[in-house]
Formats: sequence, C-alpha cells, structure tokens
Amino acid sequence: MKEYTVKGKPVRVYVCDSEDEIASQAADVVMYAIRRKPHLALGLATGSTPVPLYRKLAEKNRAGEISFAKVRTYNLDEYFPIDPASPLSFRGFMRDNLFSKIDLPEEAIHIPRGDAPDADAEAARYEAELDALGGVDIQILGIGSDGHIGFNEPADRFIYPTHATALTEQTRRDNARFFNALDEVPTHAITMGIGAIMRAKKCIFIATGKNKAPAVKSALLDDPSPACQASVLQFHPDTVFLLDRDAASLLP
Ligand code: F6R
Repeated sequence: MKEYTVKGKPVRVYVCDSEDEIASQAADVVMYAIRRKPHLALGLATGSTPVPLYRKLAEKNRAGEISFAKVRTYNLDEYFPIDPASPLSFRGFMRDNLFSKIDLPEEAIHIPRGDAPDADAEAARYEAELDALGGVDIQILGIGSDGHIGFNEPADRFIYPTHATALTEQTRRDNARFFNALDEVPTHAITMGIGAIMRAKKCIFIATGKNKAPAVKSALLDDPSPACQASVLQFHPDTVFLLDRDAASLLP
C-alpha cells in the first residue's frame, strides 16, 4: 500500500499486480461488509473495469461463501434513452455480468430507467430514492479516461443531484467497443450526481490500464477541480484506490 499525502490528507492507494488481485481485494471488502450488514446498500458501476470483481462475487456466491439475498443495489448510471431489456443497456450489462449469477432479488435492483418518458423526471425520481436511502454503504467506482465518475463529465462545476447529461465525444469513443459503430453509442445518460457518490460511506475506486493513468494522476494528486470530476474523491473520508501498475504508472 502507498499512502500519498495530498494537502495534509492521506490518499490510500493499493497498486496490485493483476486485475485478479484487484478483484480479490475489492471482493473481500464487499463480502466483509455484507457479512456485517446483510441488507447492505451496494453502489455498482458498469464498464470493463469491475467485470473481474463481479466474476469473483458470483463465484463466491455460487460457492455459498456469501449471499446477496438481503442486499440492495444502486447503479451509478444508465444510458438515455435505451431499452432496459437491451444487452447494451447498463441494466442488461448488470444482468449479464452479475445479477443473473447471484441470489439478489429482482426488486432489490435500482438503476435509472432508460425507457422513462422524461429524463429529468427520472433523474429526480432516482435522486429521491437515493435521498431516502441516505447514501449507499459501499460504492464501486471506475474512472473514465476523461476523469469522469458515474457519467459526471468534465465541467466547470460539480453537479450534486442525479441528473441527465450529454456524454463527451471521448466517453462515446471509449464505450464504442460495446456497440457495432460509434453512431450507435447513446449521446445521453442519467447519472448519480457527485452528491450521492460523496454520501457513500465507503468508495472502492478501481482503475486498470495505461489509458487511465493520466486521469488517475489528476484525480489523486492535482488540485480538486470539476475538470477531473474524480478529483472530488480527495474530499471523501473513506475511499480506497485499487490500481494496476499501468493505471498507477504516472504516480510518483
Ligand atoms: C459506469 C460508469 C463509468 C465507468 C468508466 C470506466 O457505470 O459509471 O464511470 O466506470 O467509464 O469504464 P471502463 O471500466 O469500461 O473503462
């Protein structure tokens, strides 16, 4: 473990040798928390980064080492508009990579609806759900190559409530690998705002790969700025940064 001191505050960084080691570390934290609190509110991310973690959690569930029967999940974001039944939706992604493989009840799943009639109203509905919860217990976070967390894209301010947002060209290009062509990548999404992310009691931030190294460096070591939304985590009281060597390659 490396501990950086940024403006007098500790930033806890674990540099791991492999994606598997990151998945094991993160899975251990999640499983320990569920054992202590079976009805844990677990914040989830989509994308490639957490897939090994979800694989590990599914394995542990299959082996009877952990149960999600009482857990409630809250995903960070969803494309808008999108059919929730589509495998390209984040609901579909979660179904394929985690939900269909664990004993989590369907009614415990919370994700903004990509087929809601109105994006702003759906964002407000999701925000009310998160408000009623008072913050998830653990939030899994990835980072975009542009420094986004959730789909809080680089901006001149932090947006605190859940909101509908346009995706940057960089994010659409990064996510084009899941689609047949760039013009099929949705242009908009609904995302938890910075407020709900910062209300998480604990954040597990995961980044892998060289293309994340500049964003990781900026998030951890630059002055916090909405130009790199993940930098707000420097103010979060309990975030653990799990990085592979490539993602950590620009850190001192
Ligand atoms: C996804 C999300 C995004 C991703 C980020 C990294 O729910 O909130 O912030 O975590 O775009 O995506 P990958 O892991 O595909 O590089």
